[in-house]
Amino acid sequence: MRILLLGSGGRESALAWKISQSPKVEKLYIAPGNGGTGAYGENIKLSPLDFEAVEKAVDDLGIDMIVVGNEDPLVAGITDYFSGKNVLVVGPAKAGAELEGSKDVAKAFMARHGIPTARYRSFTAETIEEGYKFLETLTPPYVLKADGLAAGKGVLIIDSLDEAKKALADMLGGMFGKSSSTVVIEEFLSGIECSVFVLTDGNGGYRILPVAKDYKRVGEGDTGLNTGGMGAVSPVPFADGTFMKKVEERIVLPTIKGLMDEGRLYRGFIFLGLINVGGDPMVIEYNVRMGDPETEVVMPRIDCDLVPLLEAAARGDLGDLALPHSPLAAATVIAVSGGYPEAYAKGKTITGIEKAAENSIIFHAGTKTEGDSTITSGGRVLAVTSLAPTLTEALERSYASLSHIAFDGMAFRRDIGRDVTCGCK
Ligand code: AMP
Ligand code: GLY
Repeated sequence: MRILLLGSGGRESALAWKISQSPKVEKLYIAPGNGGTGAYGENIKLSPLDFEAVEKAVDDLGIDMIVVGNEDPLVAGITDYFSGKNVLVVGPAKAGAELEGSKDVAKAFMARHGIPTARYRSFTAETIEEGYKFLETLTPPYVLKADGLAAGKGVLIIDSLDEAKKALADMLGGMFGKSSSTVVIEEFLSGIECSVFVLTDGNGGYRILPVAKDYKRVGEGDTGLNTGGMGAVSPVPFADGTFMKKVEERIVLPTIKGLMDEGRLYRGFIFLGLINVGGDPMVIEYNVRMGDPETEVVMPRIDCDLVPLLEAAARGDLGDLALPHSPLAAATVIAVSGGYPEAYAKGKTITGIEKAAENSIIFHAGTKTEGDSTITSGGRVLAVTSLAPTLTEALERSYASLSHIAFDGMAFRRDIGRDVTCGCK
């Protein structure tokens, strides 16, 4: 089988690493890929949003299956574009991808199907006065979300009512461009978050992947600005059998049934961003792809060939294929460019990757190759991932490997996984 994987981050590195291990794969292309994905296949220069260029590559390279890594092409309709053409696509159609493309659509979907989530209302410039009144009925902190895609930056959590009202006006006034012309305001939920991933075939078949937890804030102790993710662990100790049974019954099943009932074709990964509120899972958000950096700990814990599962999901029938989870624990720590998620330098030479790779898997994210060197090209640079019998050991191993890596301005969080391994939270 010839596979084209779209994307360029740490998530795509982990997917490429996993896919490339399959004996079913004759050739893997990654478009555009990064400085590390060339180890798993061939990088090709191509924008995943340029569907005609993707189609040309599919034809020229004899691609049998496209795996879409990030949300933008899905929300823009890449799966619909290839419908009826002779290639499989792992990823939902546009109507399914709306679960991430519009928070208002996602919230209304959850309300229709009785899926537990925070109480909410949506507002536009025309209804801003009602928005102010709704804010007055809530207790702080106030959660305001841009309806559309905003590169992970569209959620504001604000302590004071006056500032929340001002933020509502700013958002509706174009703070996130068109993405915030509708704003979802919702009740604040208190609890620990985790990420549950489901591979579904659009016909009621699904498999739950290993559960993960990511660390979004830039600073230790979950402080500072939100980032794309500074690290992740899997499994998540609090997401035990009892919790996961509730997730499956209250969230996974109604989501899959709801998608089918509403004719939203969905053959791909559903990402449930969940929060554990007193033992009960509630949905914070849906994403229509795998998470980053969660994929970097989820893929190493899948104890089988992933390619037959991807193919079966894309064909619409997972049948009785199993998706066993490894008993090992996985941890990943992200090395970022100093300054991230704000301004940061690029083009810094990275050293020590080979030494670090002796005991860990080094997934590249914001890197590129220049001659014989690997240099930084993004905010999140490397995901240093380790597998071990316990989370504590996996974390220790990743930090030991990370100590060999260096580049100008390198930064990382030293407390990844501490909340779930020290028994303090
Ligand atoms: P989202 O982009 O919807 O995942 O939101 C980004 C982050 O904001 C989440 O990962 C949560 O940490 C936080 N968040 C979003 N919605 C809520 C909520 N209703 N209550 C508490 N925290 C939230
Ligand atoms: N780690 C969160 C995300 O991928 O959206």
